[in-house]
Amino acid sequence: MVLGQTLAQITMKAVIILSAGHGKRMKSALPKVLHKVAGKPMLQWVLDAVKILNAEQVIVVTSPELERHEILKNTDVVVQAVPLGTGDALKLGVQKLKSNVDKVFLLCADTPLLDHQDIKNLEYSKADLTVIGMQLNDLSKSYGRIECNNEGYPVSIKETKHNENVKNISIGNAGVYAFKVKMLQDLLPHLEINSESGEVYATDLVKLASAKKYTTELMLADEENFLGVNTLVELSQAEQIMQRRIKTQHMLNGVQFLLPDTSYVNYDAKIGAGTIIEQSVHIGENVHIAQNAKILSFSYLSSCTIESAASIGPFAHLRGNVVVEEHASIGNFVEVKGSTISKNAKAKHLSYIGDATVGEGANIGAGTITCNYNGFEKFKTHIGKNVMIGANSTLVAPVIISDGAYIAAGSVITEDVSPDSLAISRTQQQEKNAWALSFRAKYSKKLS
Ligand code: UD1
Ligand code: MG
Repeated sequence: MVLGQTLAQITMKAVIILSAGHGKRMKSALPKVLHKVAGKPMLQWVLDAVKILNAEQVIVVTSPELERHEILKNTDVVVQAVPLGTGDALKLGVQKLKSNVDKVFLLCADTPLLDHQDIKNLEYSKADLTVIGMQLNDLSKSYGRIECNNEGYPVSIKETKHNENVKNISIGNAGVYAFKVKMLQDLLPHLEINSESGEVYATDLVKLASAKKYTTELMLADEENFLGVNTLVELSQAEQIMQRRIKTQHMLNGVQFLLPDTSYVNYDAKIGAGTIIEQSVHIGENVHIAQNAKILSFSYLSSCTIESAASIGPFAHLRGNVVVEEHASIGNFVEVKGSTISKNAKAKHLSYIGDATVGEGANIGAGTITCNYNGFEKFKTHIGKNVMIGANSTLVAPVIISDGAYIAAGSVITEDVSPDSLAISRTQQQEKNAWALSFRAKYSKKLS
């Protein structure tokens, strides 16, 4: 407790996040709030954003299908069996409040771009009801509109779907509110069913509060931070904004993107300063790139670690449990899975390296394939230090190519190879002298 603060002054906060809607406008089998932005579900973005409030309780009102989802493991879950509207969902959430909570923050789970600072600012509001509003530039947007009285205090929120005329009001409802619990307990029983939609709207609380002389407040914030995702079009808009934010942060940290708008970067990517990312690169989940690496165009990376000064691509595919150590190089049309490519090793052209270890300084020739799968099980290939694998070789796992060995081009290797030896596994070349002369002579006679 802060010195001098009495118990009565301490505000106990709870967050209620609404996520039980059908999300019908998404036209998707996946529940709306699990759709990802930069690789993180929208609901998780909201759960992360509200951490700044350090709330006593975080309650998520959700549909029966999400009730046991692991995303909700650290929250109190309330199931709204039938989505009867945001007001109905809020009522259910309020029933779960701990008795000592006196302030509730209400958010929707379909606003993944929330800014931590906006939420923090809401904490300082003193009114019984505070709503975040956005000054809309585009009045065709479908957000509910906040009506204010002459003094600028909110008196009602009207949904545009029931009244096109309210689109003339330029303050959109962000769907984020702070309520005093006492006021909620008084007003919630008075929320009525909207006759057109059959739903109960949380937004109607503003009108009720104003009529009963509760204090209301409008907090204006940047529209971009509250983009509500109701369709796949809006999801793509949110993704674009999030991508811009993520890449801007990386660039400020010293990562160079040649054409940032063409590349995708997952929210959890770690990229060291001095790394250059060319155009049209996909950096998926769980990718760690150290300093001064190069990721060349059209490369697709997921679950991999790229150490410093390594070079990847163009057109490389690294997927799942891959480590590319310092100064190693993976070139065009090379796919790597479940493998470690050690320091200074190279696989520059047209290869598949799966479930393998490639030793320091080894060179994997063009067209080399590790055959790791027999239709039932996967097997490992170990390639030692400074091994030279000739072009178009097939390494049938399990197999060990020991340090310093050579594999002749075009070989099919099924047995282990000892250190510094040459393994050749291909038919002996034959030469038939002057064969072509007699062949051509035979044909010219036949055709004349
Ligand atoms: C809502 C607001 C609108 C605001 C906009 C901001 C209402 C009536 N309208 O509209 O004023 O401008 O958000 O983005 O509140 N949900 C439930 N149970 C339900 C219905 C919805 O949990 O029965 C959840 C949804 O999963 C969603 C959130 O509440 O996360 C908002 O619902 P949604 O249908 O997206 O409302 P909007 O039409 O966007
Ligand atoms: Mg919405």
